[in-house]
Amino acid sequence: MEKAKYIWMDGELTSWDDAKVHVLTHTLHYGNGAIEGTKAYKTVDGRCAIFKLNEHTQRLLNSAKMTLMDVPYTLEELNAAQVKLLQENELFEGAYIRPLVYLGYGVMGLYHKDAPVNVSISAWKWGAYLGEEGLRKGIRLKISSMTRTPNTSGMGKAKAVANYLNSQMAKFEAVEAGYDEALLRDDQGYIAEASGACFFMVRDGKLISPPSDNTLESITQQTVIDLATDMGIEVVRRRVTREEIYIADEAFLTGTAAEVTPIREVDARVIGCGSRGPITEKLQTAYFDVVAGKNPDYIQHLTYIN
Ligand SMILES: Cc1ncc(COP(=O)(O)O)c(C=O)c1O
Repeated sequence: MEKAKYIWMDGELTSWDDAKVHVLTHTLHYGNGAIEGTKAYKTVDGRCAIFKLNEHTQRLLNSAKMTLMDVPYTLEELNAAQVKLLQENELFEGAYIRPLVYLGYGVMGLYHKDAPVNVSISAWKWGAYLGEEGLRKGIRLKISSMTRTPNTSGMGKAKAVANYLNSQMAKFEAVEAGYDEALLRDDQGYIAEASGACFFMVRDGKLISPPSDNTLESITQQTVIDLATDMGIEVVRRRVTREEIYIADEAFLTGTAAEVTPIREVDARVIGCGSRGPITEKLQTAYFDVVAGKNPDYIQHLTYIN
């Protein structure tokens, strides 16, 4: 990871190396925290803009509400902090932004009502999450032995720190087995999402993605659905079974970090042409155009930092 100059901690810009917490920080022990993953891109006019900043910050506040943490900052304050952080770090070539709401030091035990709620925002340069080659040629997925934590036993719609144990176990299993990424099913056996991204497939020219019942409400998924609709591609949200994926014409993942990453193989079955399919490529190009400020219809989703 490439260090930046500052990390925003509870309203102050702290130098990267001094951004530390006590070992008795509540979240370290019991796992109640909420994160975001937001991205800024260099735009076509040479500036830099954060994509869908408001949506990400709102989801952070929503996640914290679901997980019973009162964030001591408003949406506007958190948005301004993210802009300032990128400016002060001179991250004008683009960056990944990681806001974190966590329970701090001072209270132990599970009942967290009196634990302080702290907020940090970090940002750093981060390349393609699933690799540049993955973006061009596609990645290999393994259907996970882990079930995506069901809504009956977790806060599945929250981007909660605790949810990432499930994702981590699935990712580790997949990578150790020689794959790039894991695809998790819900407790009914239907496809839910990947460890950190949403799933799409193309069959007979239609774009199909599972409902958000057992997934994070993904911001990139919505952007891709909007772009597909703009192109006149029919989009269907319905349950998807494992064997249906094996015979898909195309498949891809979406996420702020994953962007639009084609899937070329699932569980030793080659998907479609075994590389990036034509609809995937169109949507991927359209997505990168949007985040780079090339599509005037989506400019309102960009927050320029310079
Ligand atoms: C579990 C999970 N699902 C889906 C996504 C995609 O969400 P978004 O497009 O909002 O980044 C992410 C990434 O944030 C994730 O961690």
